[in-house]
Amino acid sequence: MEKLKIAGGYPLKGNIRVSGAKNSAVALIPATILADSPVTIEGLPDISDVRMLKALMEEIGGDVSFNDGEMIVDPSRMVSMPLPSGRVKKLRASYYLMGAMLGKFKKAVIGLPGGCHLGPRPIDQHIKGFEALGAHVTNEQGAIYLRADELRGARIYLDVVSVGATINIMLAAVLAKGRTIIENAAKEPEIIDVATLLNNMGAKIKGAGTDIIRIEGVENLNGCRHTIIPDRIEAGTFMILAAAAGEGIVIDNVIPQHLESVTAKLREMGVHVETSDDQIFVAPGKEYKAIDIKTLVYPGFATDLQQPFTSLLTKAEGTSVVTDTIYGARFKHIDELRRMNAKIKVEGRAAIINGPVTLQGAKVKASDLRAGAALVIAGLMAEGITEVTGLEHIDRGYSHLVEKLSGLGATIWREEMTKDEVEQLKN
Ligand code: EPU
Repeated sequence: MEKLKIAGGYPLKGNIRVSGAKNSAVALIPATILADSPVTIEGLPDISDVRMLKALMEEIGGDVSFNDGEMIVDPSRMVSMPLPSGRVKKLRASYYLMGAMLGKFKKAVIGLPGGCHLGPRPIDQHIKGFEALGAHVTNEQGAIYLRADELRGARIYLDVVSVGATINIMLAAVLAKGRTIIENAAKEPEIIDVATLLNNMGAKIKGAGTDIIRIEGVENLNGCRHTIIPDRIEAGTFMILAAAAGEGIVIDNVIPQHLESVTAKLREMGVHVETSDDQIFVAPGKEYKAIDIKTLVYPGFATDLQQPFTSLLTKAEGTSVVTDTIYGARFKHIDELRRMNAKIKVEGRAAIINGPVTLQGAKVKASDLRAGAALVIAGLMAEGITEVTGLEHIDRGYSHLVEKLSGLGATIWREEMTKDEVEQLKN
């Protein structure tokens, strides 16, 4: 088991490249199940969630290769193998196997998904959608059993705007008979990316990226080639990091429109941000002032960037309030930031940050993926050495982070943990 060590306080500059979007990747890979011939996806990030899904595709009979970010999945020998436990429990996005396998085989058994612990993460809207399409769904001993004689298009209103439910219902509906309409759909760019892949495979989906998605069911889907969109959350993490510890950083391979809310919030606090076609330049301002942030569904400020942003706000003059309306308990990183001298308290769904303070290096633990990103940023800002454990969370979503940050001049490295340290971590 490894930990991350960061010697903070060195100014970072240069270029950093964003990888393919994790939250697209984890849906695009299961979507390949729906095809009858090989699908190629280019630009996938080299992260553990992608490797886990590759293994799951192989477990159900897929023939899969993955080199240099290009995955080729031949689904022609896949079967509806029950997956009640094992790898499915390790990632949240294994719920997309439900929609894809139900759509293709009309039956599936999938263990309830794992992933980051951000408070309750129900999947009732996914199930509501599957049932509306004609599936019989039961929950038996921690696994969801789905079965349908046939799937028929339906009009489905989502009571909660959900990325996962929107994509999962699309996956289940593309091969259903007739028309499906998803109302109050989520509008995240990852949803458009998945719809683009499915349409290239022969599906008929209209309206992805708006709150009404219309799907005409088709008989079958074929292989195709697809290039994934850049990861807007990784890009946002780098923008925040550039504001926190940079001296002028160019972020390459971005779609600036996906990052408008982050750009606006950085500018509001006094950060210099310039955008061009597929690059964003971020340079520190003279002084940072406190701001308030409220997370919202896209195109609002992403909950996934709330945690990294709290680290940056420790540098701002005054009191900032960060409210998470999506995951009200996504604040496990706050105690760790406090160990580093941050003056933050949590009240309900809000973190209240008083600044400016100079962060101090400390031993901290990443409890989830974006908490990990927040702590890495804090470590780069801090005086002295920071040790971050819980790297398995960071590795789920950030591809080659140490190499990328070293390229900016950061002093950051991975180190094997001693037996005692591993024991301490368990307690
Ligand atoms: N919700 C329900 N019922 C449902 C589904 C969702 O009540 O059936 C609630 C959730 O509890 C939450 C809100 O609706 O309060 C939004 O959840 P959503 O379904 O949109 O989240 P998700 O699909 O499970 C994805 C990303 C998350 C990201 C959220 C919000 C993936 C694999 N995960 O999760 O990403 O935080 O959307 O944008 O796409 C991350 O990357 O670190 C991460 C956690």
